[in-house]
Amino acid sequence: MADGLLIAQISDTHIQAANPESKARLGDLARTVRSINALPRKPDLVIHSGDVAHDATAADYAAARAELARLTMPVYATVGNRDRRDPFFEAFRPDGYLPAEHHFAQYAVEVAGLAIIAIDTFDDQSALGGFCSRREAILKRLLADATGRPTLVFAHHPPLELPDMKPPLLQYRDVAEARSLADCLAGHAGLVGVIAGHVHRARSVRLGAVSLSTVPSIAADLSREKVAETYLRRPIYHLHTVSSGGMTTQTLMLDSAEAAAA
Ligand SMILES: [Fe+2]
Repeated sequence: MADGLLIAQISDTHIQAANPESKARLGDLARTVRSINALPRKPDLVIHSGDVAHDATAADYAAARAELARLTMPVYATVGNRDRRDPFFEAFRPDGYLPAEHHFAQYAVEVAGLAIIAIDTFDDQSALGGFCSRREAILKRLLADATGRPTLVFAHHPPLELPDMKPPLLQYRDVAEARSLADCLAGHAGLVGVIAGHVHRARSVRLGAVSLSTVPSIAADLSREKVAETYLRRPIYHLHTVSSGGMTTQTLMLDSAEAAAA
């Protein structure tokens, strides 16, 4: 693969078109899109690791998509607990990467020799993650297809306990499902990293030989990071540099809304 592939990861935009109090979130996403487009080195692609929408209405997705469409590189997304598969598929199907053979937002794309696998961890009974046997079978096939290539995996819910969190430390309803997901990934020889969202905080733990990291939310009003007052209202995203040897991650924090409006 091309060494030093650059991937911007955004997450948890929580676009909520019907709520005037959430209007700033669209601005947070718009400022993030401008920031990514203006980076000195243009990322090769952008990953959105879920919770695109907050109420999962068609209007939420239309607003999110309109902003994401301004990105000058391809964007790949999966579902979070606030998303719903039907409107998500409706909104993102035109981008051409969502599967036609099943209804999970779980698929693989290849960019410059890197296999990128999206995992659908939506659970219809809770806000926590789910990973049923059907998705396990799909993932095993996607990983088998990626054999011999470096592989980056993204999901909404991180499948391991994270440090420095209020309970639940593990963000899955069924511990066995999280374990089966983590085991599938840890056993994949070409894995270079696993990236997730959901917790609205930056955390990093080991998963097999690689790192599992989470990115804070783009929706700045929903950030769970403990930050000084001066850093409030600042969307945060990650820039991952991926090579066949592994992955390094840089954190980018936007200027405050006040500064952006000045
Ligand atoms: Fe979220």
